[in-house]
Amino acid sequence: MPTDLDGRARAILRANDRAGYTVPNGQVYPFQWNWDSAFVALGFDGFDRDRAWTELETLFRAQWEDGFLPHIVFWQDDPGYFPGPSVWAAGRTPATSGITQPPVAATTLRSLWNSAQSAGESDLYRPRLEALFPRLMAWHRWFRDVRDPDRRGVVMTVHPWETGRDNSPEWDVPGEPIDISNVGDYVRRDTSHLDAKERPTKLEYDRYLALVQFGRALGWDHRAIAAASPFRVADVGMSMILLRANRDLLALAEELGRTAEAAELRELVARAEAGIDWLWDGEKHCWCSRDLLTGRFSGFVTSASFLSFYAGLHGPDKDAAMLTHFERIGDRVRYLMPSLDPDEPGFQMVRYWRGPVWAVVNYMIGTGLDECGYSAQARRMRADTLALIEHSGFQEAYSPVDASASGGGDFSWTAAIWLAWSS
Ligand code: GLC
Repeated sequence: MPTDLDGRARAILRANDRAGYTVPNGQVYPFQWNWDSAFVALGFDGFDRDRAWTELETLFRAQWEDGFLPHIVFWQDDPGYFPGPSVWAAGRTPATSGITQPPVAATTLRSLWNSAQSAGESDLYRPRLEALFPRLMAWHRWFRDVRDPDRRGVVMTVHPWETGRDNSPEWDVPGEPIDISNVGDYVRRDTSHLDAKERPTKLEYDRYLALVQFGRALGWDHRAIAAASPFRVADVGMSMILLRANRDLLALAEELGRTAEAAELRELVARAEAGIDWLWDGEKHCWCSRDLLTGRFSGFVTSASFLSFYAGLHGPDKDAAMLTHFERIGDRVRYLMPSLDPDEPGFQMVRYWRGPVWAVVNYMIGTGLDECGYSAQARRMRADTLALIEHSGFQEAYSPVDASASGGGDFSWTAAIWLAWSS
């Protein structure tokens, strides 16, 4: 692979480094984002191991006492972003948002630990692993206690931003009961940096803000929010990512000889393996998100549907059905994996999570396919991702049709995935 892209990727991570954490992009996203940091750490790990660990350590410095890990940490304010810390009003130092994001961090930590071991640096990094482990445990317990109160093995999300796939059409119908009549006036900042046709609509933004106001009115009491939110969805992406992360945290617990925690995590994995079938849409023959309030399936094949492999689920019939979707979509677009099925009427090749491809999602899908032995499909995921970057640089997202850019440029997690996946 061309080394100039390696150098460029490293330069992007360095330029977006704010001394201990990395902004996804200096203009559009000038703070620390939760799952972005988990991917960014993978990128740093190839050339600055210490900095990779610091990325996770900084993120966990913003963890709340009950284990909750926020989706944004506002280490310093910046007028270029809305909604900023005063809108969230979470009453924390450092200031944070009041919602979380997909828990990729345990999977990253396992990977950082394996790489430190291979480099003969276990002694140096073991104390850092020991310090991070209980923090990860606390976050995963928070998911269990607050976001799966009925112990069903699927995760509740209470805001589309928590899923990381902000404006996916999966949230359209579950979002209808959100009362937007009192949202009031506000000025969006994303559309002053980027073309509005690449961004969520006004209706979607009104709903995002109404949910922020709802959480704020409840003082960000997460149990109260989970009991009353008008938006309560089991996101297929979040559920698959958490299952995977629990497996990785279990491996770390075993490594550290924490038998009680290992037993707890085994129980979580078993519960998720049993419960996740609730997200199998038998009509669509696909893993789909599902509304927890109505039981209704989204009915959409999205990039998150393909995370079942990454979650380590094994089932010949379901795998075959997913691979059939994979082939169909792969014939329709030049670059996999579009965030929305291109056969959907709502597919738009540059509108955020309604079509474009994200390198980080591709990385998870490709990793999972590879681990499950679907190597041809895994090879295509990797090749398409690298081809997108070679074609258009380190963008936030890309059109699956012609590789054109969508969103911000010089994007940290895209640079990180290049570094983690190209060598
Ligand atoms: C957008 C994405 C989200 C990401 C954030 C920063 O909100 O939808 O997944 O974490 O940008 O990159």
